[in-house]
Amino acid sequence: AAPRTLIAGNWKMNGLNAALAEVTALRDGLSAPNCDILLCPPATLIAAMAEVAGPIMVGGQDCHAAASGAHTGDIAAEMIADAGGAAVIVGHSERRTDHAETDAQVKAKAEAAHRAGLIAIVCVGETEAERDAGRALDVVLGQTAASMPDGATAENTVIAYEPVWAIGTGRTPTLDDIAEMHDALRAKTAELTGSDAMRLLYGGSMKPGNAAEILAIETVNGGLVGGASLKAADFGAIIAAA
Ligand code: G3H
Repeated sequence: AAPRTLIAGNWKMNGLNAALAEVTALRDGLSAPNCDILLCPPATLIAAMAEVAGPIMVGGQDCHAAASGAHTGDIAAEMIADAGGAAVIVGHSERRTDHAETDAQVKAKAEAAHRAGLIAIVCVGETEAERDAGRALDVVLGQTAASMPDGATAENTVIAYEPVWAIGTGRTPTLDDIAEMHDALRAKTAELTGSDAMRLLYGGSMKPGNAAEILAIETVNGGLVGGASLKAADFGAIIAAA
């Protein structure tokens, strides 16, 4: 059976308490969605969002690899679970760039997520220079192999393919390019984990106008949505397209 579609939103560093009104509007507007839904707000809002989210899962945007300790400013996976979270994004390109996170660190974070009972959403993606050089497949498959947590299953791990040049730019790869990458990720995740049912999300300028055609690709099992997850109307339209 095909994996159940997951539509995940990443609010990044956006959202004060007032933004929870978007979540209640989204929740109230859902009619028997055909997919799982996840929203990852800033850590400051995880607990409050979990209170009002109803059937929408809530998650974090990053976690530390350790369970606790002297790591000022970081949060542990168990803290996300304790606040009502069900998942955590690890290895987003903004973390890899802004904080120089390596594949080995991303893998350790994903393993910490699993120890806390969270779904790990592991992000991978090539830069524009890498794509132009014809290296997109090599880069992304290499990141996937090196970031894949030990013990990964279709239930506890999701891979999000986000071409760095498509994030927040309004540009997306062609549907053929997305399908080529996702077909390769399907084969790679099966080789690495023994499961051909791991969910593979596409991320990068997904919006109501392009979600249906991207989500129709057989090896795309959902989306990781940034800007268009901030407003209930946009995110709801993407959920409706799933
Ligand atoms: O995590 C989400 C992605 O980075 C996509 O962001 O939809 O604003 O391009 P975007």
